[in-house]
Amino acid sequence: LILDGVTYELPVLEGSEKEKAIDIAPLRDKSGYITLDYGFKNTGSTKSAITFLDGEEGILRYRGYPIEQLAEKSSFLEVAYLLIYGELPSQAELDQFTNTIKSHTLVHEDIRKILDGFPANAHPMGVLSSLVCSLTAFYPESITDRSKEQVDLNIVRLLAKMPTFAAWAFKNSMGHPVNYPKNKLDYCSNFLHMMFSLPVEGYEVDPVVSDALNKLLILHADHEQNCSTSTVRVVGSSKASLYSSVSAGINALWGPLHGGANQEVIEQLDAIKADGGNTQKWVEKAKDKNSGFRLMGFGHRVYKNFDPRAKIIKGACDQILNKLGVNDPVLNIAKELEEAALNDPYFIERKLYPNVDFYSGIIYRALGIPTDMFTVMFALGRLPGWIAQWKEMNEQKEPISRPRQIYVGATLRDYVDV
Ligand code: MLT
Repeated sequence: LILDGVTYELPVLEGSEKEKAIDIAPLRDKSGYITLDYGFKNTGSTKSAITFLDGEEGILRYRGYPIEQLAEKSSFLEVAYLLIYGELPSQAELDQFTNTIKSHTLVHEDIRKILDGFPANAHPMGVLSSLVCSLTAFYPESITDRSKEQVDLNIVRLLAKMPTFAAWAFKNSMGHPVNYPKNKLDYCSNFLHMMFSLPVEGYEVDPVVSDALNKLLILHADHEQNCSTSTVRVVGSSKASLYSSVSAGINALWGPLHGGANQEVIEQLDAIKADGGNTQKWVEKAKDKNSGFRLMGFGHRVYKNFDPRAKIIKGACDQILNKLGVNDPVLNIAKELEEAALNDPYFIERKLYPNVDFYSGIIYRALGIPTDMFTVMFALGRLPGWIAQWKEMNEQKEPISRPRQIYVGATLRDYVDV
């Protein structure tokens, strides 16, 4: 790195040493070569104190707490509080946070009328992003009032209404009437109630299902600045409301390369099953460069060894399917594929390990959640991360985002009359 005429030799950092990479941040800030440019928001040049990832070591921490511990011990709202406010809440703080959220779960009836306007074949993600965006119109003070009290109110309102919107998007796709929130239930159970009560007469939320959902949402709660999260920060940097910014993030997540991945996994597993379930055949096909075939759910842009979330999800998947007595043959296919790949030099050399999307779809299906809703479930989980990132970006007073552009088009041309 050459800075002000002085050459600096930058160390190649290994493993946990990467945490020290922050030491060179002042150099990056000043350098014209590696630019700390919030406007461009390249992954290598943005700062955040929310989520730590080490792709070589397979480490994921929210605010310093390992994901394994949070998934084991916390509730989703506890993790939401941690991500958004930086500390785990005391019991009193958590109770207050939870109760405030419960007091905002209802949605204005005029928003329900917007829902009524969507055709039943509207994708639930389109419905979700539209309903979230409509909150800016229903609560215009979310743009004009930037006081801490108002921001906190916007945050709880969004956390509270998101499960209602998500369940209503599902109900719309089924052509069924909506269920209203039941505030005596916890966050996950209330969502399940809105999803599955009526037409199932006397539906009772199974605590096993609710616990499984709690874990899945925690595992998806943040993942540093990827496509959707950067989108939330970029849109928010124009001082757009939290609701508009998160709505934009939902649209970014909707794309098949981002949130749509677990849907692709389950469709592929189904196709392998329909083909007779010979996993070795598909492993060989994936290795054949000319086949154009790729095993979905293997490898990750960030994780080069394994995705720590995948390990937890695999364990949860076994547990949940056992407890619910669900026998989904694609689970065995998934396990066989994993086994075959993890022992095959081709996959080992390329560090292609199952990622978070590999098992999550199987769990969602066991819980009775249809494939079209998988991305919505991802959005529900990712919400606290988006909120935390939007808040951090505002608190850091980041300037409006504006990518640096290098013009590569035609040079000056004279207009010639024809
Ligand atoms: C995520 O959890 O957001 C995905 O793994 C995508 C990513 O972080 O790049």
